[in-house]
This record gives sequence, structure tokens and C-alpha cells, in this order.
Amino acid sequence: RVIPDHVPAELVFEPRYEEPNTLFDPFIVTKDVYEELPPIFYWPRPSPGRYDGTWVVTHYDDIAKVYQDDSIFSAQDASNFQGTIGETFKILPQSVDAPVHGPYRKFLSPWFTPKIINAQDDQIGRVINGLIDGFIDKGECDVSHDFCRPFPVLVFLNLMGFPEDRVEDFLAWEYAILADKRDIESVRWGSRHAIDYLRSFIEEVRAEPNDKLASAIVHGEIDGRPLNDDEIIGMLFMLFLAGLDTVSGTTGLIFRRLALDTELQQKLRENPKLIPGAVDEFMRLFPIVNASRMAVKDHEIRGVKIKAGDFVMCYAMAGNFDPDVFKNPRETILARQPNRHFSFGSGAHLCLGQHLARREMRMGIAEFLRRIPPFTVKPGADLTVYPGQIAARHVPVVWDKDAI
Ligand code: HEM
Repeated sequence: RVIPDHVPAELVFEPRYEEPNTLFDPFIVTKDVYEELPPIFYWPRPSPGRYDGTWVVTHYDDIAKVYQDDSIFSAQDASNFQGTIGETFKILPQSVDAPVHGPYRKFLSPWFTPKIINAQDDQIGRVINGLIDGFIDKGECDVSHDFCRPFPVLVFLNLMGFPEDRVEDFLAWEYAILADKRDIESVRWGSRHAIDYLRSFIEEVRAEPNDKLASAIVHGEIDGRPLNDDEIIGMLFMLFLAGLDTVSGTTGLIFRRLALDTELQQKLRENPKLIPGAVDEFMRLFPIVNASRMAVKDHEIRGVKIKAGDFVMCYAMAGNFDPDVFKNPRETILARQPNRHFSFGSGAHLCLGQHLARREMRMGIAEFLRRIPPFTVKPGADLTVYPGQIAARHVPVVWDKDAI
């Protein structure tokens, strides 16, 4: 382990990350992360090709500052995902700062407005109900594997204009990237296949344009010039990464919670109007993305010296429980207002797909609860979320099939 000289020994801290369940258990995580962690600490957690360790900020105001001020905390070079997989393109628009960031964001934004997203309700509903049809009569399913995983992939394929019959491939690539972030070979395998596919797809829609998002990117222009190949693949790959496992992972954790907490499940069944607020409250409780930035100037946070070149991670899992901002943060308050959590980030890079993500999750939960009778965890099922995974891979549940 390499700890830089300017990092005081007392600020080096390793969260109890190795223990299964500490990451995503809503009860343990709140205690561990907000109450036990210092406001700023240095986590000697190497990220291949990127850093040997990173600062972590845990309080709301500090996280907000890191997100807001890109003159100090840059998104440029903060993600080396493409380096890990041996590519040189930039992931767009996530890994560039203003003013380069603006035109890419502006180019994609019209595809993600609430109006455009709401117009996809029929298609999203068809995908969700098609999956439910497949298991409703069985009285059981693995809600993570059979539902939460495939439905965002199918919605994504349609939005982008990728053929639906590639769903198994997309799932396999997503699975390989998601399965265990520490297994670099698995991440490389999934990414390599996804990128090769995207490259061949670019050639296809170059010859035959259509009205879907991937084609719009391939034929896109910024400032009056066509996008080049690196920009195209950078955007397509970003959407592939951002749009699939995030929604699958969050929805899987929500269903895990609902299967364990049948009272809460009943409350949502009786009052579906609570679902939109509940989705945001679950997102606050189960943030699955902790974004990073790289300091480009020396700076101090709470008297701690951060040097140019240091990485800083915004620990949403702690900021979302800051008691100065969230009253009774450990409680699940379905109608919590306001609920300005960091699960979609903040500042210039605030999640572009947030309306789509919310819509998918709200509809997924609403339709599942409407059609499937009260469900519980299948006896003997192992719901452990292991380190390195960002979601519960299997959530087997059962219901009374005679109650349908
Ligand atoms: C950015 C989370 C779903 C597209 C982000 C960021 C977070 C995030 C935290 C900020 C990253 C940073 O500041 O470095 C999530 C979560 C999701 C989700 C938790 C689901 C529950 C989606 C979906 C899409 C999407 C469905 C599109 C299909 C994007 C894009 C950005 C982004 C394009 C980059 C925006 C920019 O750099 O301007 N997301 N996301 N996300 N997300 Fe999402």
C-alpha cells in the first residue's frame, strides 16, 4: 500500500468493506457510514490504473462542494474506466469539464426530458408486463434475475434502437461488468464485447439511419461538425454503462427490501400514490454510485490538505444520511420532502437519465405490486450482497399463486 507523504496517518481509514452485508443493509450501512466515518478520510483502496487510494468526503456540504466546483475538482481523468479496458476514448459527457462538457450534454438532453420519457410509458409497460407474464403463474421468481435485471436492458435496447434479440448478449456483458468490480478480467471481457458490438452497430446505422438515439448520435453534429468515432463510442458506451446496471441494481435492492419488509410492501400496495416518493426515498437509502473527482489545485477541506492530483470520492452513502440535512435519516419516510439525495449526483454532471430511471423504477414497482400477490423471501434464500457487487444478485421470492 502506498500512502502519499502528505496524508496524515490518523486520516487513513479502511471502512469495514470486506464484510458481506455492511454495504447495502439499510440498518448497518447508516450506522457504519455516517456515524462511524470521519468527515474526511483517506481510503487506501487501489483502483487499477487510476490511484492507490482516494480521499473520501462524507458530509453533505463537502460532497456538494466537490460536485459543484470543477475549477478545483475535475471530472476529467477522474474515471479511468476506459484505461482499465485498454481504450483511449473518453466516456462522454461524464469525464469532461466545462466548457467541453456543455455541448455534449446539450446534444443528449432532448432525449431525456420528462416529456420524451413519459411518452415511452406504453413501451416500458409492455416490457414490464411481458416479463411478469413469464413467471406470474409459477408462484415464485428470482425478482433480481428474472425482473430487475432484464427490464432496464429491454427498455434501453428500444430507446437506442439496438435489436431486442441481442438482449441475452447485453445481459451477459452487463453481468460480467457488474458481477464483481474487482475481477478485472471479467470487467474487461464484458466491456470488450460491448465495445466491439457498438463499433459494428455504428457501421450499420451509418449506412441506414433511423429515428432512435444511437442513430442520432452516429449522425450527430456539435458546433456544426460531425461527431468523430471516439466521441460516438464515448457516448454510446457511457449510456450502456449508465443506463443498465444502475436501474437493475437499485430496483433489485428495492425489491429485496420489500420482500423483507412486508409491512412496507403492504403500505405501497394499499396506496400506490406513495410509489414515486418511495422510489426517491429508496434511492436515498441505497445509493449505488459514488462519483469521484480529481483535484487539479491544492485545496483544504476541513483543514485537511488535498494536493493537486489527489482523488476525492463523494460518498453518497454517507451524505444521504447527514442528519443536518435529512431529519431522522435512518428512518424510511416514503413521502420525505425535500429529498435532495446524492444518488443521482449533483452539479453539472447530475444524472442525465434520472427521469427515465425514475419512470422505469416507478412503473416496475407499481406493475409488480398490482399483479403479483404479497410476496416474501423464499425460505432458505441467501440475500447477501457481497463486497464488490453493487446489488443483490439473487432475490428469490414466493407468493400464493392461488391468490392471483
Ligand atoms: C450521470 C446515477 C440511471 C445516464 C450520473 C451520475 C450519477 C448517476 C451519480 C453522476 C456521475 C458523476 O457526477 O460523475 C444513476 C443512477 C441511476 C442512473 C443511480 C439509476 C438508478 C441512468 C440512466 C441513464 C443515465 C437510465 C441513461 C440511459 C447518465 C449520464 C450521465 C449520468 C449520460 C452523465 C451526465 C453528465 O456527465 O453530464 N448518473 N444514473 N443514468 N447518468 Fe445516471
